[in-house]
Amino acid sequence: MVTETQHLVEPGKANELGYKTFRLGQFTFERNAYFCVIAVQRDIGWNFFYGMVKFDQVFGTFNFYDNGVDMFLGKYNDAWQKSGKAYSEMFPNEKISATFKAILEDWVPPEFNPWAAPRETGSPFGRKRGGPHPAIYRKRIVTKTMIKEPRTDATHPVNEAFKGIQGKDGEMKIKPEYKERFGLLNLYDYLARNDVTWNPEIVSAVEYSLFCPTTEEYILPITHGNDRVEWFLLLNGQISMEIRDRDTGNLRAYMHMKPGDCCAMPADISHNLWAPERSMLLVWENGNPELPELIRLGKTPTTPLQEFGLS
Ligand code: PHB
Ligand code: FE
Repeated sequence: MVTETQHLVEPGKANELGYKTFRLGQFTFERNAYFCVIAVQRDIGWNFFYGMVKFDQVFGTFNFYDNGVDMFLGKYNDAWQKSGKAYSEMFPNEKISATFKAILEDWVPPEFNPWAAPRETGSPFGRKRGGPHPAIYRKRIVTKTMIKEPRTDATHPVNEAFKGIQGKDGEMKIKPEYKERFGLLNLYDYLARNDVTWNPEIVSAVEYSLFCPTTEEYILPITHGNDRVEWFLLLNGQISMEIRDRDTGNLRAYMHMKPGDCCAMPADISHNLWAPERSMLLVWENGNPELPELIRLGKTPTTPLQEFGLS
């Protein structure tokens, strides 16, 4: 597929398995039959999300929004910092996006959907055999699809794991002249029909208050480093989490969430998430673009509940 940003990409020759190598600044990306280690899809699907995406303990990206995206090696890892080996380079969002999209197009096999749970999709392993899976072009969706385009058996069948537990709408009688102004939606039913995992998508926005529910199963393929406080409310299933200091990677806590558990993640942590069964999680974000700067300047606390002594 030829895109407008293709001139920003520096691909090399294909290796013996058929996969191309890519350069970006001083970084080189390669894949073999098993490993590419980097889970580029979440960075692209989320447009680098809020803050940091770490592909392992060493390599990742940090979104500085209008100022670009910083790609780093060891910059947020205690041992690499101490040994003086940390390296990073800032790229315009457009350039790093174009390279990561080109990597996805070349490396994702036709039968492997990066948004699906492993039991629902084919193998990412082996030599190149065509591709990519069309799901790599999926964009995050927004609230109007929940209200204006109800999910049905034909468009979004209920996921196997949620059969029997999807919700049912209650009843609402609306005077005809107010038909356009009221609606009753069932979030359980909506999420039972979700066709992606680990992809918080906005279903309601009130100024900067964003409700981003998501369905989770198996492992979030990246580590997320926050640049603002975020809240989690587990609606069903279970989620385990390893929580680290964002800037050093040093372990701070383990957490196991059960349905009804609500937690607030500090702005200075990174976390890995596991869901041993398909689960529904409500992520509540404050989308205010000024927050990272306010936090950096110490004008906004990194913890959400200081008055309760939880700082
Ligand atoms: C997060 O790190 O905040 C996060 C990312 C993806 C999810 C859930 C939580 O699916
Ligand atoms: Fe996070």
